[in-house]
Amino acid sequence: MFTLAHYQEAADAIRTRTKQRPTLGLVLGSGLSSLADGIPDADIIDYADIPHWPRSTVEGHSGRLVIGELQGHTVLIMQGRVHSYEGYTPQQITLPVRVMKLLGIETIILTNAAGGINPDFEAGDLMLITDHINWAGMTGLNPLKGPNVDYFGLRFPDMTFPYDPALCQLAREVAAEQEQTLREGVYTFLSGPNFESPAEIRMFHTLGVDAVGMSTVPSVTVARHAGMRVLGISSITNVAPHHPKPDHVTSHEEVMETGAIIVPRLMALLNGILQRL
Ligand code: HPA
Repeated sequence: MFTLAHYQEAADAIRTRTKQRPTLGLVLGSGLSSLADGIPDADIIDYADIPHWPRSTVEGHSGRLVIGELQGHTVLIMQGRVHSYEGYTPQQITLPVRVMKLLGIETIILTNAAGGINPDFEAGDLMLITDHINWAGMTGLNPLKGPNVDYFGLRFPDMTFPYDPALCQLAREVAAEQEQTLREGVYTFLSGPNFESPAEIRMFHTLGVDAVGMSTVPSVTVARHAGMRVLGISSITNVAPHHPKPDHVTSHEEVMETGAIIVPRLMALLNGILQRL
């Protein structure tokens, strides 16, 4: 269990390695790390140099912070995140969000790779996350379990608006201006690491889920606990199977490949959103 002192140690380590004072956090999911590559004069901090900061063990998730200017904002970009399936606790997974809060960040944009469940979705779509089901959280993997850190928020935080309605509206407007199709839907967090069985996909479809993935919701939960505004965007990297098909295999390679194809459109959308923030 982390205390406020642990989060402060991590925040202090970042402050000593950069003069920049970010106001916006951006988390890049599987296959999306290249979004941060073009930032000039960025300060780069390896996760290994930040106390308590969890390090990714997954291909496609590099492990560093990129702090620099993007569309007039000083942003802190996480190139790579860690997941429950890597063996990290929910508190470890979400430590970066609390550290961002201590650094003065009040708005966080979370991206991820997700499997499409909504039958209208195709691999390569972008989806605005309008709500979520904290499936793994409900069954025990909730980062707010344990002693409440009162500094950040209430013991029983509200979760009526996990995703900020004004930021969602902005994303819609920017997508429309760019003539990009932006799907919308409910994202569900599963611990993974296996992809879902067809029966599980049909169950989630029945429950009103549009996309499934293995991240994001713990961070949103902790961010909302701390009163931060959240925008979430999923890259639909694959279509989840509702019924078994002999030739259907969901693979990490497919997730990475499609993620890479989506990067330019996601970058355009994020740049447009940042310009108007
Ligand atoms: N399921 C869960 N997580 C994912 C998927 C999926 O199909 N695709 C990308 N992340």
